[in-house]
Amino acid sequence: MLAAALGLAAVCCSPNPMAAPPKDIHSYANPAVARVTHLDLDCELDFTRRVLTGAATLTVERAGEGPLILDTRALEIRAAETSADGRAYQPARFELGAADPILGAPLTIELPPGATRVRVTYATSPAATALQWLDPAQTAGGKRPFLFTQSQAIHARSWIPLQDSPGVRISYTARVHTPPDLVPVMSARKEPDKSAGYKFSMPGRIPTYLIALAAGDTEFRAVGPRTGVWAERPVIDAAAREFEDMEAMLAAAERLYGPYRWHRYDVLVLPPSFPFGGMENPMVTFATPTVLAGDKSLVSLIAHELAHSWSGNLVTNATWSDFWLNEGFTTYVERRILEEVYGPERARMEAVLGKRSLLREMAELPEKDQVLHIDLAGRDPDDAVTEVPYEKGALLLATLENRFGRARFDRFLAEYFARFAFQSITTETFVAHLRATLFREAPAAAAEFPLDEWLYRPGVPASAYEPQSETLARVETEARNWAAGRPPETEATARWTTQEWLHFLQSLPAKLTPAQMKQLDEAYRFTQTGNSEILCEWLRMSIRYGYREADARVEQFLRSQGRRKYVKPIYEELAKTPAGKERARRIYRQARPTYHPITVAAVDRLLA
Ligand code: BES
Ligand code: ZN
Repeated sequence: MLAAALGLAAVCCSPNPMAAPPKDIHSYANPAVARVTHLDLDCELDFTRRVLTGAATLTVERAGEGPLILDTRALEIRAAETSADGRAYQPARFELGAADPILGAPLTIELPPGATRVRVTYATSPAATALQWLDPAQTAGGKRPFLFTQSQAIHARSWIPLQDSPGVRISYTARVHTPPDLVPVMSARKEPDKSAGYKFSMPGRIPTYLIALAAGDTEFRAVGPRTGVWAERPVIDAAAREFEDMEAMLAAAERLYGPYRWHRYDVLVLPPSFPFGGMENPMVTFATPTVLAGDKSLVSLIAHELAHSWSGNLVTNATWSDFWLNEGFTTYVERRILEEVYGPERARMEAVLGKRSLLREMAELPEKDQVLHIDLAGRDPDDAVTEVPYEKGALLLATLENRFGRARFDRFLAEYFARFAFQSITTETFVAHLRATLFREAPAAAAEFPLDEWLYRPGVPASAYEPQSETLARVETEARNWAAGRPPETEATARWTTQEWLHFLQSLPAKLTPAQMKQLDEAYRFTQTGNSEILCEWLRMSIRYGYREADARVEQFLRSQGRRKYVKPIYEELAKTPAGKERARRIYRQARPTYHPITVAAVDRLLA
């Protein structure tokens, strides 16, 4: 029965990984004619000039007549050569097209008959959007500079000339030359060979947005047999303690969804300007230090990035319109891991908070951005990152789980990861697979399931699963009591977790006076909290409700880290009044040079 269902799916979804990938509007590449299958990178980091120089040797598979077209952004192309055997190279004719502000410039390279290798010699621009070069003062150690890449969504092209589409998968090898005592880390296995620079190899086919490199004065500490942390020395103890449950998370994910396919799972803790919470680079997640709360309360982020080892890195969105396949599945899997390691109530709390932030954000979003399969024509995929792909996507899976039963749904998901492992798929392929397997197995449960409404229409279907948490229901009561002048008992709040505090803040009345804010702060010391999630929520409220005692902390927070999720909403809140906008601009003038290009792009748009 199962085999039959899978056989059917195979027919409907064209299993050949070499089949032409679907059209990706965010890439100039022509993989249907000439497709890159492997990258061999040789690169050198020049911290003084803030330039990476490289030679990218691409293995090309050809299915038709025509040139090879690569994506680039702000690259200086020095030479292009081709080879039939990978040994003798001849100069090739190439042309760098006009640059588009979102896509960059196409690099077209003529391929003589028989050519299977293309070598491009190039240098990055100091303004490369994937790279952040940090001064020693921007690091924890303060003595050595630091470089890290962030390739998702379409920034890999700013440091390597590639077919930069998630529908094109490649393996890669690399040799990296760094100044002495700066250790490079890549989303790949480090090879023992140290003859000239460091050598890396990623044997599995991955989408190009997962190619990653960092170099700094970092150390490694094992957490478990397959897990560990990389961090600067001043941070490494805190990181190892915070992430001590990584090995248990990995084991839990494997029990649920099958073997871990990436050899090791390490986390690199970056300096505070890292623009994201985490980035699921295979073998080594890159993470913000703002996750180090000291009490493991924000480790859902690690569960999330680890979950991407199945949803995203094994089974990948084929285009950025299918981004919800990465993030929705991952957010669902993240909570299943949390449930295994920390118990069902923790997972329920995260689901309630997630749904709440989805509804909160959706109320402000245009209808076209409330759909899972999103139209990105004319847009940078970075600008379309909202709660919708994450939380509406996770809610769809929770609704399916609830409707079909956990055992059946778990089997479906494990099979989905096995069936599409190392492939990039579209929403349509997922739909066809779902209909051919789960829906066919249990037609009664599938009857009238509003799948099209979930995927292609705004809002949340009325039949969506409703996550519930008793703990958070009690917190809502306490928030109501507080508003009515009966604050919660301190014995109760003394034991509150981060999730309870967040829910408390979000359940307070929609408008507070500065005096009420002061009363809250005196009772619970929010302005002084070291928990970045609670602090961000509190500072936004402080600005909104005119609580000036938090002003210094707002400025300090904006200047000490550059995580886009925190920085952008705070500037946004400030910009709502003329005086606030003035203040925002003053703080930003000083902070901007310390922010990553991705954070800068978001805040520039706000304060321009
Ligand atoms: N893959 C994303 C980060 C990302 C998304 C980078 C889109 C570039 C474009 C990563 O897995 C992620 O979702 N990070 C979240 C944390 C997570 C716990 C929701 C973040 O950075 O806030
Ligand atoms: Zn994610």
